[in-house]
Amino acid sequence: MSETIYSRKFAAGEEIFRIGDQGRNAYFIEKGRVEITNPRDGEDLVLATLGVGEIFGEMSMIDDAPRSATVRALEDTEVIIIQRSRIMQPVISADPMMNLILRVVLARFRGAQHKLAGMSTEPGEIDRSLGEIRDLAIKRINFEKDMRRGLELGQFEMHYQPIVALDGRTIAGFEALMRWQKDDGGFISPGEFIPLAEQTGLIIELGRRALEDGLRDQIRLAETYKSVYPHQDVPFMSINVSGMQLTDLAEIDLMAGLIEESGADPAHIKLEITETLLVENFDHAIEALQKLKSLGVLIAIDDFGTGYSSLSYLHQFPLDTLKIDRAFVVNMHESDNSRRIVRSIVQLALSLNMSIVAEGIEEMEQLSTLHALGSHYGQGYLMSKPLPFNDALALIESKPIW
Ligand code: CMP
Ligand code: MG
Repeated sequence: MSETIYSRKFAAGEEIFRIGDQGRNAYFIEKGRVEITNPRDGEDLVLATLGVGEIFGEMSMIDDAPRSATVRALEDTEVIIIQRSRIMQPVISADPMMNLILRVVLARFRGAQHKLAGMSTEPGEIDRSLGEIRDLAIKRINFEKDMRRGLELGQFEMHYQPIVALDGRTIAGFEALMRWQKDDGGFISPGEFIPLAEQTGLIIELGRRALEDGLRDQIRLAETYKSVYPHQDVPFMSINVSGMQLTDLAEIDLMAGLIEESGADPAHIKLEITETLLVENFDHAIEALQKLKSLGVLIAIDDFGTGYSSLSYLHQFPLDTLKIDRAFVVNMHESDNSRRIVRSIVQLALSLNMSIVAEGIEEMEQLSTLHALGSHYGQGYLMSKPLPFNDALALIESKPIW
């Protein structure tokens, strides 16, 4: 992530931009003063004089329309450039309603300015021009409404994907994965609803649900497993935990309570956490993880290699398992580099005494290579897709060997 902040200097009297210019950046005045003017009856009408700490150019930055006024430096001036891509892209994707509101406010301001200048704006014109942005905002609101309703109606259900020991090629554990089945029977993929759940805060509730169901079903799957494989270790249950759940200490207490009261053996519960979370909020994350770890649960680092991959955190956290992201596994046989990366990740994890799960295994060749490289476990469509609880039970009973 580049954190470069650009600044620029303008000499006294220099024009920074002119009305009608294309422009996508706003400017924060660090030093100096600028004058904002509009031509009116053959003269320059001064709209404002701005100094240190003030911002100009924000209008075009927001809606990408041509500059509404001319800006000139009154003194030697220094500005910090505020890039549209940095500011607006996150707003548009995270909160389309906020984007719509910004655009409505701006459109109304432009409308008022036009009126004052004696130019006409048709009533309703503003609202019509925002059609696409409004559609996006409404779509998002409806999605959120559907999701809340789906939660109430029990449309979210955990499915369980087996994780296979690469030595004996039998089931060693499961990952609990959430499915959303809508009224019409169609499935919405977690890839679609999880980011939205994160943005709306619903992830907290979904996360609790996943934990509760995962704990309960681990006990049930383990019972069957023990009767089928009396001499093997009880299967572990991997449960995904989102960053948002870990940023709230009260939520961690609640999760700890759920784990303790579930009756599941914490030694067979593995919480999966993404590396982005660890890197973004290091001090807090370490406290949260230690608290969970003290219950006796295992911690896995999920999707390893796709986030920041800051290796410095690896030895500072109480991590038990590293999950190699599917992106490396899928390319392993096409690309020498992918295979070398997988080998290095495996060696890194082994030297840190972590166990390794490779995700996204689709071909027997990948499974063999991963085993040869030293990965302990594998997960993927080659073995099984995520299964409803009863099918997972049936799978155990069928004693599969891959
Ligand atoms: P933008 O339209 O991007 O470029 C010209 C800038 O002038 C505009 O953003 C605002 O920052 C500023 N501006 C426009 N109208 C006014 C006003 N009435 N008062 C103060 N500043 C203005
Ligand atoms: Mg996971």
